[in-house]
Amino acid sequence: MTIPAQCPFLARSLPGDGTPLTPSPQLAEWREAGAFVPLDFQDGHEGLVATRYDAAVAVLQDPRFSMRPSRMPVGPPAHGEEDKAESAAVPLEAPGELDAAGQASDDLNLLNLDGDVHSRLRRAVTARFSVRQARAREPWIRGMIAEQIQKLRERGPEADLWRDYGMPISARTHCHVIGIPEHHYETFVSLFVEESTAQQKYDFIRALLEERRDDPGEDVISDLLRNEDLSRVEIEALLRLLMGAGRDSVAYLIATASVAILTHPDQLAVLREDPERIRAAVEEFMRTGAMFVTLFARTATEDIEIEGTTIPSGTSVAVSPVAANRDPGHWGDDAESFDVSRDAFGHLGFGYGIHGCIGQQVARVEIREAIAALIESFPDIALIDADQLRPQPFAHPVAVYEAGTVSVRLEGAPTPA
Ligand code: HEM
Repeated sequence: MTIPAQCPFLARSLPGDGTPLTPSPQLAEWREAGAFVPLDFQDGHEGLVATRYDAAVAVLQDPRFSMRPSRMPVGPPAHGEEDKAESAAVPLEAPGELDAAGQASDDLNLLNLDGDVHSRLRRAVTARFSVRQARAREPWIRGMIAEQIQKLRERGPEADLWRDYGMPISARTHCHVIGIPEHHYETFVSLFVEESTAQQKYDFIRALLEERRDDPGEDVISDLLRNEDLSRVEIEALLRLLMGAGRDSVAYLIATASVAILTHPDQLAVLREDPERIRAAVEEFMRTGAMFVTLFARTATEDIEIEGTTIPSGTSVAVSPVAANRDPGHWGDDAESFDVSRDAFGHLGFGYGIHGCIGQQVARVEIREAIAALIESFPDIALIDADQLRPQPFAHPVAVYEAGTVSVRLEGAPTPA
């Protein structure tokens, strides 16, 4: 199959006219045109985007695609390099007054690494994010969510489910899993949820490592401190990544899943009727509400043939989970519909393969427990309005949808929009 590079009718930039639950029709047009179609990257260089499910999976599991920014065909300008790191998974800011170790830590971002270095650093933290570990966290997460529900009740009758519910749930779970003590919660929020310099973040991480050295527990920081194969710079890099990674994404998914069920009363009824279905429904929330329009670009390190298309060495390839998650070739003719009774396992909302999301098991528990508690606690909950019902600018240079405000009436009759 050939790449439709010369097709004059096919748009070449990412479409901004979609919303999380109703993506741009352009993505479907691209998918129909080919498994890979041309894409103009933000810094001006040209590459491809994988639109179909099988092609997307093939790229994500192929080690011949490199994540190293230095391999990008037209090296991004300095600010482009920072932008790549400024993703939903890894929100970083322009380096401040870092010392040599801090500077080196920025080069050890898992999402910029390949091969053995990537595998070794990734292995150092994956055990703490296993299915078993996530299960062990369930009682704590449930208890914490019960507290957030109580706060919603006190705040009622209206609330913003993104700011007042999704954000605190994701930030508190993050601290719990990573091992940031409760008394540092506010500092964590001010440094990693709000704005701060890289220097401030590293100062916090270093102070925390000192504090936790004599106070080990069942968390990521303790694992890293026990690991004698890691250098100090590597430990700091991993913590910097993990403290930023995925927290916004969990809050986004809680907000988006809430919008999905509140705009689909039939699906909400299914979940009320059969509360156990929430486990499978989380996968459907992730499939239809995936936030990544494209993942981080990969670069082909040799000529690579996928699905009959030859991708020349040196080509930048982006993968679109949003497009692949609605590929009728994989999901069937009703791929566009939101259906909590569907088996949506295998979606690409958490990426896939070599760089697939480390935090996905704990994220699943957070989303599941948050939505289950919301449905159970507020039988009359109704949507007033949500920013994400209208197209919003992408939140990061790797295109991700914004969660935005999700206003609901928790009890009583809804206020019309
Ligand atoms: C609903 C919540 C989340 C979503 C949708 C999400 C999504 C993703 C995606 C799509 C990737 C792959 C990026 C790529 O291949 O270009 C990724 C990677 C990653 N995620 Fe998540 N994430 C979530 C939660 C989390 C959490 C809670 C954590 C950690 C506490 C986390 C840590 C990471 C890390 C460290 C990577 C990089 C893995 C690597 O390069 O080997 N994520 N995430």
